[in-house]
Amino acid sequence: MAKQIRSGHIGILTSGGDTPGLNAAIRGIGKTATRGAGMQVIGFRDGFRGLMENRSVRLDNKMLSGILTLGGTILGTSRDKPHKMPMGGKFVDMTDVIVENYHKNHLDVLVCLGGGGTLKNAYRLSQAGCNIITLPKTIDNDIMGTDVTFGFDTALGIAVDAIDRLHSTASSHHRIIIAEIMGHRVGWLALGAGVAGGADAILIPEIPYTMDKLADSILERVSRGKRFSIVAVAEGAITVEGANKIKALEKKLEAAEGDERSKLKKQLKQLDRKYRGSTMEMAQELEEITGLETRVTILGHLQRGGTPSALDRMLATRLGTSAVDLIRDEQYGIMVAVDGEQTKAVPLQDVVGKINYVPLDHPWVVAARNLATSFGD
Ligand code: F6P
Repeated sequence: MAKQIRSGHIGILTSGGDTPGLNAAIRGIGKTATRGAGMQVIGFRDGFRGLMENRSVRLDNKMLSGILTLGGTILGTSRDKPHKMPMGGKFVDMTDVIVENYHKNHLDVLVCLGGGGTLKNAYRLSQAGCNIITLPKTIDNDIMGTDVTFGFDTALGIAVDAIDRLHSTASSHHRIIIAEIMGHRVGWLALGAGVAGGADAILIPEIPYTMDKLADSILERVSRGKRFSIVAVAEGAITVEGANKIKALEKKLEAAEGDERSKLKKQLKQLDRKYRGSTMEMAQELEEITGLETRVTILGHLQRGGTPSALDRMLATRLGTSAVDLIRDEQYGIMVAVDGEQTKAVPLQDVVGKINYVPLDHPWVVAARNLATSFGD
């Protein structure tokens, strides 16, 4: 028999970039919790800002109905951080106000649905005395401690569909088409879409590339009579030169303190801006080296929009309902992670601040290399 939920209040907020499946997760938590012994579920608007401003909505059956298939988040989201809240042109630490509102709302637990940034903010609140559970949501799939994040499958499907469509036009015009795919600092989406869509080259942040190697692979195709090429490039892809410069600066940063540290952090941001996401420049250079007409398609936020895939609906529902099981057991300070067919509780301190990069020997990388797909390395 299912355990009874002790009466009390669950708060939910969605934070960071929206992701298909958020509403399915909200519904999973809400319906499971309210179905039991009268636990109330309150949603806070627009991430941590809504909790700070006490803008909330009661998530009753009516609010939770008909949202399973909806994209986005019915609660709204923002990237605002409790300890660096933009207020009147500056950043203010509003952690105390947020903790106060947590108690004013008589919350037993705050469930934060978010990615890596949300994890950090949620962890800070748990250190400030709030009971916290997080669910791993992001299209980037860059969260440690979980097999996968919800939203990834939908975004992957959209990117694969785009590559499929780009194939016919690239082939007809004998062009190179570069598809820029989201993913922040990791290459899961570009790699997955590149393999599933049969891209000829895949550039991901984990495998720095050189223009020469990339161009060679395309010219080699030309020599075999292939007059078009598709390049799947992650938005965070980086050249060998850029990656070396960033690595050197990161090493300095490890040892730096105070003002020196802030200065180096700024420099790191500048380097990042200079060396990542330069797809337009890459296209121009590739056109010059290969002599082939080159076009760019930036998929951007299209990958986050619209209805979640069946897999993401199931995953988000599963994580949402499991979160309530953990609340019943009063397990807090944890992320609900995917572990094969099961879910498990992972302590926040074990995953906070860590990034799930694509391992260089990942089966998708191996498969692509076996097919002679170029990584530009
Ligand atoms: O983290 C999800 C994500 O879509 C990344 O892939 C991308 O780099 C970023 O968010 C874009 O953020 P924003 O929606 O703030 O432009």
